[in-house]
Amino acid sequence: MQTRRFLAGVLLLVLILPGAAGSLAVGGQEEEKAEEEAQAELPKPLVIPEEEKQRKNAVEATTESVEAGRKLFTSQCAMCHGEKGDGKGELAQEAKLTPPDFTEPETRKKRTDGELFYILTTGHGAMPGQGERMREVQKWHLINFIRSLAPAQKPADKPAE
Ligand code: HEC
Repeated sequence: MQTRRFLAGVLLLVLILPGAAGSLAVGGQEEEKAEEEAQAELPKPLVIPEEEKQRKNAVEATTESVEAGRKLFTSQCAMCHGEKGDGKGELAQEAKLTPPDFTEPETRKKRTDGELFYILTTGHGAMPGQGERMREVQKWHLINFIRSLAPAQKPADKPAE
Protein backbone atom coordinates (compact mmCIF):
# COMPACT_ATOMS: atom_id res chain seq x y z
CA MET A 1 0.00 0.00 0.00
CA GLN A 2 2.76 2.42 1.07
CA THR A 3 4.88 1.62 -2.01
CA ARG A 4 1.94 2.09 -4.30
CA ARG A 5 1.24 5.50 -2.88
CA PHE A 6 4.88 6.40 -3.27
CA LEU A 7 4.88 5.27 -6.87
CA ALA A 8 1.69 7.21 -7.56
CA GLY A 9 3.37 10.27 -6.08
CA VAL A 10 6.41 9.86 -8.29
CA LEU A 11 4.23 9.37 -11.34
CA LEU A 12 2.34 12.57 -10.52
CA LEU A 13 5.58 14.52 -10.18
CA VAL A 14 6.87 13.18 -13.48
CA LEU A 15 3.64 14.32 -15.11
CA ILE A 16 3.55 17.77 -13.50
CA LEU A 17 7.20 18.86 -13.63
CA PRO A 18 7.78 19.01 -17.38
CA GLY A 19 4.55 20.97 -17.67
CA ALA A 20 5.73 23.47 -15.09
CA ALA A 21 9.12 23.79 -16.76
CA GLY A 22 7.36 24.22 -20.09
CA SER A 23 5.17 27.05 -18.91
CA LEU A 24 8.19 28.81 -17.42
CA ALA A 25 9.92 28.65 -20.76
CA VAL A 26 6.84 30.05 -22.50
CA GLY A 27 6.82 32.96 -20.00
CA GLY A 28 10.40 33.73 -20.96
CA GLN A 29 9.60 33.66 -24.65
CA GLU A 30 6.65 35.99 -24.17
CA GLU A 31 8.87 38.45 -22.35
CA GLU A 32 11.37 38.29 -25.16
CA LYS A 33 8.62 38.84 -27.68
CA ALA A 34 7.29 41.88 -25.83
CA GLU A 35 10.83 43.29 -25.76
CA GLU A 36 11.24 42.68 -29.47
CA GLU A 37 7.96 44.42 -30.16
CA ALA A 38 9.02 47.43 -28.06
CA GLN A 39 12.27 47.59 -30.00
CA ALA A 40 10.49 47.16 -33.31
CA GLU A 41 8.37 50.22 -32.54
CA LEU A 42 11.37 52.51 -32.15
CA PRO A 43 12.29 53.17 -35.79
CA LYS A 44 8.74 54.21 -36.67
CA PRO A 45 9.27 57.54 -38.40
CA LEU A 46 8.16 60.54 -36.43
CA VAL A 47 6.05 62.82 -38.55
CA ILE A 48 5.15 66.06 -36.86
CA PRO A 49 2.69 68.31 -38.71
CA GLU A 50 4.08 71.76 -39.55
CA GLU A 51 1.45 73.59 -37.49
CA GLU A 52 2.42 71.50 -34.45
CA LYS A 53 6.09 72.40 -34.93
CA GLN A 54 5.11 76.07 -34.95
CA ARG A 55 2.94 75.81 -31.84
CA LYS A 56 4.03 78.46 -29.36
CA ASN A 57 4.80 77.70 -25.74
CA ALA A 58 1.79 79.05 -23.86
CA VAL A 59 3.58 79.30 -20.52
CA GLU A 60 6.48 81.63 -19.79
CA ALA A 61 9.56 79.81 -18.47
CA THR A 62 9.51 81.42 -15.02
CA THR A 63 11.22 79.84 -12.01
CA GLU A 64 7.77 78.73 -10.82
CA SER A 65 6.98 77.02 -14.11
CA VAL A 66 10.34 75.24 -14.23
CA GLU A 67 9.85 74.10 -10.61
CA ALA A 68 6.35 72.78 -11.38
CA GLY A 69 7.85 70.95 -14.35
CA ARG A 70 10.60 69.49 -12.21
CA LYS A 71 8.06 68.03 -9.77
CA LEU A 72 6.03 66.41 -12.54
CA PHE A 73 9.18 65.16 -14.21
CA THR A 74 10.51 63.57 -11.02
CA SER A 75 7.31 61.65 -10.40
CA GLN A 76 6.30 60.71 -13.95
CA CYS A 77 9.27 60.84 -16.27
CA ALA A 78 12.46 60.28 -14.28
CA MET A 79 12.08 56.48 -14.24
CA CYS A 80 12.98 56.58 -17.92
CA HIS A 81 14.56 59.97 -18.52
CA GLY A 82 16.61 59.96 -15.29
CA GLU A 83 16.39 62.38 -12.34
CA LYS A 84 18.79 64.70 -14.17
CA GLY A 85 17.14 64.21 -17.54
CA ASP A 86 20.21 62.50 -18.94
CA GLY A 87 18.16 59.56 -20.25
CA LYS A 88 19.59 57.08 -17.75
CA GLY A 89 16.47 56.27 -15.71
CA GLU A 90 16.27 52.83 -14.08
CA LEU A 91 13.33 51.66 -16.16
CA ALA A 92 15.00 52.79 -19.38
CA GLN A 93 18.17 50.87 -18.48
CA GLU A 94 16.22 47.73 -17.57
CA ALA A 95 14.14 47.81 -20.74
CA LYS A 96 17.12 48.91 -22.87
CA LEU A 97 15.37 52.10 -23.96
CA THR A 98 17.42 55.07 -25.05
CA PRO A 99 15.63 58.32 -24.25
CA PRO A 100 17.54 61.38 -25.48
CA ASP A 101 19.90 63.20 -23.12
CA PHE A 102 18.08 66.43 -22.24
CA THR A 103 21.23 67.86 -20.63
CA GLU A 104 22.93 67.91 -24.03
CA PRO A 105 22.41 71.28 -25.80
CA GLU A 106 22.58 69.54 -29.17
CA THR A 107 19.51 67.43 -28.27
CA ARG A 108 17.54 70.53 -27.40
CA LYS A 109 18.50 72.44 -30.52
CA LYS A 110 16.95 69.76 -32.69
CA ARG A 111 13.39 70.39 -31.53
CA THR A 112 11.00 73.29 -31.21
CA ASP A 113 8.80 73.56 -28.13
CA GLY A 114 5.89 72.62 -30.39
CA GLU A 115 7.64 69.39 -31.39
CA LEU A 116 8.34 68.49 -27.76
CA PHE A 117 4.70 69.22 -26.94
CA TYR A 118 3.58 66.99 -29.80
CA ILE A 119 5.82 64.08 -28.77
CA LEU A 120 4.79 64.45 -25.14
CA THR A 121 1.13 64.33 -26.17
CA THR A 122 1.13 61.59 -28.80
CA GLY A 123 4.17 59.57 -27.74
CA HIS A 124 6.71 57.97 -30.02
CA GLY A 125 8.23 54.49 -29.95
CA ALA A 126 8.67 53.53 -26.29
CA MET A 127 7.77 57.05 -25.17
CA PRO A 128 4.23 56.90 -23.77
CA GLY A 129 2.02 59.77 -24.97
CA GLN A 130 0.21 61.67 -22.23
CA GLY A 131 -2.79 62.49 -24.40
CA GLU A 132 -5.47 64.11 -22.27
CA ARG A 133 -4.10 62.60 -19.07
CA MET A 134 -2.18 65.77 -18.48
CA ARG A 135 -3.37 69.36 -18.69
CA GLU A 136 -1.78 71.56 -21.36
CA VAL A 137 -0.29 73.86 -18.79
CA GLN A 138 1.44 70.89 -17.12
CA LYS A 139 2.93 69.85 -20.44
CA TRP A 140 4.35 73.34 -20.92
CA HIS A 141 5.80 73.30 -17.39
CA LEU A 142 7.51 70.01 -18.29
CA ILE A 143 8.89 71.47 -21.51
CA ASN A 144 10.14 74.56 -19.67
CA PHE A 145 11.86 72.25 -17.21
CA ILE A 146 13.40 70.13 -19.98
CA ARG A 147 14.68 73.29 -21.66
CA SER A 148 16.25 74.43 -18.39
CA LEU A 149 18.41 71.29 -18.34
CA ALA A 150 20.64 72.44 -21.18
CA PRO A 151 21.49 75.95 -20.00
CA ALA A 152 23.89 76.70 -22.84
CA GLN A 153 20.87 76.78 -25.09
CA LYS A 154 18.53 79.75 -24.95
CA PRO A 155 14.85 78.80 -25.02
CA ALA A 156 14.23 78.69 -28.75
CA ASP A 157 11.14 78.38 -30.82
CA LYS A 158 12.99 77.44 -33.96
CA PRO A 159 15.56 74.71 -34.50
CA ALA A 160 19.07 76.06 -35.09
CA GLU A 161 19.70 74.34 -38.41
C1 HEC B 1 8.69 54.27 -20.45
C2 HEC B 1 9.77 55.22 -20.46
C3 HEC B 1 9.45 56.69 -20.64
C4 HEC B 1 8.65 57.48 -19.84
C5 HEC B 1 7.88 57.09 -18.59
C6 HEC B 1 8.69 58.81 -20.42
N1 HEC B 1 9.47 58.81 -21.54
FE1 HEC B 1 9.84 60.41 -22.76
N2 HEC B 1 10.87 59.21 -24.02
C7 HEC B 1 11.18 57.89 -23.82
C8 HEC B 1 11.93 57.38 -24.96
C9 HEC B 1 12.44 55.96 -25.12
C10 HEC B 1 12.04 58.46 -25.87
C11 HEC B 1 12.66 58.43 -27.27
C12 HEC B 1 11.52 58.04 -28.19
C13 HEC B 1 11.89 57.98 -29.64
O1 HEC B 1 11.90 59.02 -30.31
O2 HEC B 1 12.13 56.88 -30.12
C14 HEC B 1 11.38 59.60 -25.25
C15 HEC B 1 11.27 60.85 -25.84
C16 HEC B 1 10.75 61.97 -25.22
C17 HEC B 1 10.71 63.30 -25.80
C18 HEC B 1 11.20 63.69 -27.19
C19 HEC B 1 12.60 64.25 -27.06
C20 HEC B 1 13.24 64.58 -28.38
O3 HEC B 1 14.02 65.55 -28.42
O4 HEC B 1 13.00 63.88 -29.36
C21 HEC B 1 10.16 64.12 -24.87
C22 HEC B 1 9.90 65.62 -24.97
C23 HEC B 1 9.83 63.30 -23.71
N3 HEC B 1 10.20 62.00 -23.96
C24 HEC B 1 9.28 63.78 -22.55
C25 HEC B 1 8.80 62.97 -21.52
C26 HEC B 1 8.10 63.49 -20.36
C27 HEC B 1 7.88 64.95 -20.06
C28 HEC B 1 7.73 62.40 -19.63
C29 HEC B 1 6.92 62.36 -18.34
C30 HEC B 1 5.58 62.89 -18.43
C31 HEC B 1 8.22 61.20 -20.32
N4 HEC B 1 8.87 61.61 -21.46
C32 HEC B 1 8.04 59.91 -19.89
C33 HEC B 1 10.82 57.13 -22.73
C34 HEC B 1 9.96 57.54 -21.70
